[in-house]
Amino acid sequence: MLNIVLFGPPGAGKGTQSSQLTERYHLLYISTGDMLREEIAAQTELGKKAQDTITRGELVSDDLIVAIIEKRIKDNPKLKGILFDGFPRTVSQAHILEDLLKRFNSRLHCMLSLEVPQNILLERLLQRGKTSGRSDDKEDVILNRFKEYEEKTAPVAEFYKQAGLYTPIVGTGTLVEIFERLTLAIDNVAK
Ligand code: AP5
Ligand code: MG
Repeated sequence: MLNIVLFGPPGAGKGTQSSQLTERYHLLYISTGDMLREEIAAQTELGKKAQDTITRGELVSDDLIVAIIEKRIKDNPKLKGILFDGFPRTVSQAHILEDLLKRFNSRLHCMLSLEVPQNILLERLLQRGKTSGRSDDKEDVILNRFKEYEEKTAPVAEFYKQAGLYTPIVGTGTLVEIFERLTLAIDNVAK
């Protein structure tokens, strides 16, 4: 298996880069944000629990995240590898991921961290908010997402730095340039 975490603050380009990455490396795509939005759209019990938290720009509980990830993996027993987008977002989720991959006798190969200055992130998200329909693409909520990221998610980068898996990637430039930087980093660890 080849297991990768695509990391970075809101608006860093995780979702944008993911489809081509999963295609090139034949990975299962696990975006906890997308899955939560699907549960909300379907008004499932899980979706109802997550809805208000997401609209405030806060993180939902680890329990809900584990539940949706388990569901996704059970539906896909024959895995070549996984690309995680938006997970892990807390240090405790990083431990959950470690245990999860052990169950497959596997491990995480790298954490690619898209680095983008905050003024550009805000610009991108406000622009996206004009058409996305996402309840959290409003300026006050975006600022709260940045705050949650700094407080709870940035420490996850430290965790992976210590594990020797953290790989910073310049997240500005054209989509092609960024994709090339990502694939270069992946090819280095997938050898
Ligand atoms: P989630 O859906 O994960 O959102 P996020 O991390 O805030 O990130 P975004 O999806 O907004 O940004 P992105 O990095 O994917 O950027 P994108 O490619 O879209 O999470 C949403 C919520 O769900 C959380 O707040 C939380 O409540 C909950 N949640 C999810 N996972 C959780 C977890 N594990 N634990 C707890 N709670 C969880 O790009 C952004 C925009 O920029 C797009 O319009 C794009 O077209 C544009 N763009 C991209 N690249 C470029 C470029 N190179 N140049 C110019 N524009 C670009
Ligand atoms: Mg996204």
